[in-house]
Amino acid sequence: MKTRITELFGIQHPIIQGGMHFVGLADLAAAVSNAGGLGLITALTQRTPEDLAREIARCRTMTDKPFGVNLTFLPSVTPPDYPGYVKAIIDGGVKIVETAGNNPVKWLPALKEAGVKVIHKCTSVRHALKAEAIGCDAISVDGFECGGHPGEDDVPNFILLPRAAEELKVPFVASGGMADARSLVAALALGADGMNMGTRFMATVEAPIHQNVKQAIVNASELDTRLVMRSLRNTERVMVNAGVERLLEKERTLGAGLKFEDIIGEVAGVYPSVMQRGEMDAGAWSCGMVAGLIHDIPTCQQLMDTIMGDATKIIRSRLEGMLAA
Ligand SMILES: Cc1cc2nc3c(=O)[nH]c(=O)nc-3n(C[C@H](O)[C@H](O)[C@H](O)COP(=O)(O)O)c2cc1C
Repeated sequence: MKTRITELFGIQHPIIQGGMHFVGLADLAAAVSNAGGLGLITALTQRTPEDLAREIARCRTMTDKPFGVNLTFLPSVTPPDYPGYVKAIIDGGVKIVETAGNNPVKWLPALKEAGVKVIHKCTSVRHALKAEAIGCDAISVDGFECGGHPGEDDVPNFILLPRAAEELKVPFVASGGMADARSLVAALALGADGMNMGTRFMATVEAPIHQNVKQAIVNASELDTRLVMRSLRNTERVMVNAGVERLLEKERTLGAGLKFEDIIGEVAGVYPSVMQRGEMDAGAWSCGMVAGLIHDIPTCQQLMDTIMGDATKIIRSRLEGMLAA
């Protein structure tokens, strides 16, 4: 399949693995890229820019296909060493960056000068237009269904994607709620040039996370995510568990007076406990509603082959069949 996204990034299939804290290590990025998609290493999971440089080098030993790095700009009192991470990306010869969180304008000149293509992930048409205007090469349009931070507008992809298609000139991928060939063909029909998946790639053989997490995703239904931190305007969609129930109880009790410090036990430092040690009730970890569509733990190659094979069948048989009838 050839789309503006496969052309832009020099990949075989129009499928991207979104940046994921403590999941997007070189092992997963390389597996996705080897399977013909675009794998991404998540920069901030690496404690220092030097660690990121080593992770990029490790990825190169596992794939000779294009891969990228996710750079997430968080609201933070003491920001991470962003100049250091950008330098590690450029010095490491990485040519694709997914930015997310805040507007990436400050980092674009350096990335562009180094020939890096930038895909910015955002959750509204206005932010997508802003990203296009400042020179981003592509957009990842993340709908309300998504695992992680859906923003505060709550517009699901059936509306958000065609709205993005009406406004954007640069290519964009559909993100949030994407799991299989049906998602891909629907995303293309709504005007996207491919899709970005997070939660689906967690339940793969190569995802470097505890088996308990993969099994929890397989066991979960589409009803098992919750939105937390809305009153802090930092809404996150997470998998429900005892820690999240505790957090929601605090939100109910404290109401508008809730402060970040009140819930620090349920949101800070949770990722290593969950992803590495499989402590499933530790607190809030991002997960999409799409968990309800995930029933197995394939290799990345099997997942991609199934998606692309089934997409061909949907287009050639189901859709064309309807026209022929
Ligand atoms: C466990 C997990 C961690 C994530 N961490 C990040 C992150 O650090 N930076 C980022 O930009 N997006 C992050 N995301 C969002 C994904 O990149 C992607 O946009 C999202 O998962 C898409 O929705 P889906 O889960 O329905 O596929 C995370 C998602 C998950 C599930």
